[in-house]
Amino acid sequence: MSELQLNDVRKSYGNFEVIKGVDLDIKTGEFVVFVGPSGCGKSTLLRMIAGLEEITSGDLTIDGERMNDVDPSKRGIAMVFQSYALYPHMTVRENMGFALRFAGVPKAEIESRVGEAANILELGPLLDRKPKQLSGGQRQRVAIGRAIVRHPKIFLFDEPLSNLDAELRVHMRIEIARLHKKLATTIIYVTHDQVEAMTLADKIVVMRGGVVEQVGSPLDLYDDPANLFVAGFIGSPKMNFLKGIVEAGGTHVRLPDLGNAIIPVRVKDATPGSAVTIGIRPEHFGETGSASLDLTIDMLEHLGGETFAYARHGDGELIIIETKNGRGLKSGDSIAARFDPAAALVFDADGRRLR
Ligand SMILES: Nc1ncnc2c1ncn2[C@@H]1O[C@H](COP(=O)(O)OP(=O)(O)OP(=O)(O)O)[C@@H](O)[C@H]1O
Ligand SMILES: [Mg+2]
Repeated sequence: MSELQLNDVRKSYGNFEVIKGVDLDIKTGEFVVFVGPSGCGKSTLLRMIAGLEEITSGDLTIDGERMNDVDPSKRGIAMVFQSYALYPHMTVRENMGFALRFAGVPKAEIESRVGEAANILELGPLLDRKPKQLSGGQRQRVAIGRAIVRHPKIFLFDEPLSNLDAELRVHMRIEIARLHKKLATTIIYVTHDQVEAMTLADKIVVMRGGVVEQVGSPLDLYDDPANLFVAGFIGSPKMNFLKGIVEAGGTHVRLPDLGNAIIPVRVKDATPGSAVTIGIRPEHFGETGSASLDLTIDMLEHLGGETFAYARHGDGELIIIETKNGRGLKSGDSIAARFDPAAALVFDADGRRLR
């Protein structure tokens, strides 16, 4: 049974519709990540699930029960925000127990739940400290602890790691993955971070402009995006997009910006002469494959284990190539960037995937 369901959920501020009909099924124990550009409605949707924003129309159900008008505290949900806003004058123990005290939970029960959360988050030795005596990562763990003590059915996280430095983010990301394993609770998590989304999610929900563009497992979205937007959004560095014109017969595509190179990419049901976009991931370029682009290297990023080469044809757009054998490359080098046409994705003029 799916635990949380959104059915044509919409949100308007005055005449401005920001969530434009979202349908979503989230199963018990699933780790679901919302991604999408700034302003697309991720936080709004999360806050509607939490009950912090009213739902303009549509239904939110949890375990089959309609939740639209249920008080936030009665939904079995706990939310962790980006700004963890701990009470500075309270100890870690008091911060974690605060919501329970407020709800009138007996003292012994609070003690036991705080102890359990501190155990899970390895905060035991820090329980009597004040927030200012903690590192950023420890504070974020206290914020998560505050949610855990409530024994929610569903955790909501809104960019919980974006205030932390790079190293701490990686550390906390792993902690959150472990936490999910340990608690086996449903988690809905908003992030801007590609790696967080790809590594944490069972299911990624890609949003744009208040609409869900695609839902799927991280690798499904990566390998099999439904449209140009998802293809460009999932993956870092981004997928390369080349403008193409379908040749007669539909078995080849001409690339006007690449010296009219003709590549053997098959386009089903396309009218010859119609415009398409060819998508190729940086790692799909190499020294083999029946399609080839003549490029000049503009700039190189040597990361040690791999190299990102930024190359172009003439003064055309930069194409990113990822290679393990890039140490010998120099800017100004001419290269034949080859790829297997089967790895190329094709999109029509409206950005829809042509399969
Ligand atoms: N109280 C409000 N009144 C009017 N418009 C609002 C209000 N809150 C949010 N919006 C608008 O709703 C849209 C979605 O905002 P939301 O905060 O959900 O985006 P987001 O995807 O979380 O973005 P970010 O990645 O920047 O956090 C934005 O266009 C925003 O300006
Ligand atoms: Mg947001």
